[in-house]
Amino acid sequence: MTTTVRTRVAIVGAGPAGLILSQLLADAGIDSIVVDSRSREQIESTIRAGILEQNTADLLRAIDPDTRVDTVGHRHDGIELRFGDEGQRIDFPSLVGRSVWLYPQHEVLKDLLALRLGRGQDLRFGVTVDGVEGGESEHPVVFASDARGEHLRIEAEFLVGADGSRSVVRGAVSGSRADGYFREYPFAWFGILCEAPPSSEELIYSNSGQGFALISQRSPTVQRMYYQCDPSADAAAPSDAEIWDTLQARVPGTTLNEGPIIQRDVLRFRSFVAQELRRGRVALVGDAAHTVPPTGAKGMNLAIADVVLLADALRALLVTGDERLIDSYAERALDRIWKAQHFSWWMTSMLHVTPDASDFDRRRQRGELRTVASSEAGRTYLAEGYTGWPLATDSV
Ligand code: PHB
Repeated sequence: MTTTVRTRVAIVGAGPAGLILSQLLADAGIDSIVVDSRSREQIESTIRAGILEQNTADLLRAIDPDTRVDTVGHRHDGIELRFGDEGQRIDFPSLVGRSVWLYPQHEVLKDLLALRLGRGQDLRFGVTVDGVEGGESEHPVVFASDARGEHLRIEAEFLVGADGSRSVVRGAVSGSRADGYFREYPFAWFGILCEAPPSSEELIYSNSGQGFALISQRSPTVQRMYYQCDPSADAAAPSDAEIWDTLQARVPGTTLNEGPIIQRDVLRFRSFVAQELRRGRVALVGDAAHTVPPTGAKGMNLAIADVVLLADALRALLVTGDERLIDSYAERALDRIWKAQHFSWWMTSMLHVTPDASDFDRRRQRGELRTVASSEAGRTYLAEGYTGWPLATDSV
């Protein structure tokens, strides 16, 4: 059996990008449907990164009166850059007048799902997209099916792929799901969640002789930490004691509070930008359009910056019939995407130790870290990128 749904905008993917887009469209009186192949529980429990740029936090406050960004989340005014036995705090407010918020993505998602469902959004979980047609026309159609095998035909005026790095919609924009610009890295992150008090009030990004480590936080009783590992590492292999030894050795000068490890995972690193971000009446946002390595904490922020631009463009197109903003969407989004690609690559290459690093490479890297840490211009450059460049101003 096939059910047909007619709406103005079909959004594939109920991540931060898809949900925020549905809210911004609703604010402009534009109806949409959001479908996601995952269940609500899966979406709410997937552990992802946790840093929000100031603009991202401001946007969440503007669209959601019940956001918990200031209650469950915490403002962070700096990070520590650690290299060997040297360390430098990067103080964001004094350098750039901005801060970031540590607020994990799955908490953001709980807020956004409650917001959209509470406002009557047509939001369907467990719905997988089988194909897309008519992207070049004014009437794209999405063919999807749910867990019971029932078919859904969605007829819209515009289709948005907010469906993550394995995007199905990307094929309708780029011609092929894989077309784009890639970079692989010879390392990954071993991530843990542990039950322990915080070891530091702020994040520590540490470059040590043995490789990189990041000490992050989640709550007074749960912490998130990562260390650089081989991309083929098996998350189940090391014992808890081995994990703690590795982490402790990589943040000399700080004694980590240890505790039971309640989750462990290996995060692959990849930089990717899709060949095209929009074709006809189909556009990509977020991880469907690009992925960045997690070192610069840009992933979710970049997705939301895309959405702010696309929401403007769809308002103009669907309310007044003005095509200019949708025609320039890709170019304007790519300007920020490539800046964020560079920032994420730069933080990654400055802080990690490649397996084939020579003595020259190590000493040059130490020179780079000292340059950034000891110069106000260097610290400001880092603070500006980390806290986020301004969003398009006329948007929300
Ligand atoms: C995290 O807390 O999960 C986190 C923080 C900063 C990053 C990456 C991940 O750069």
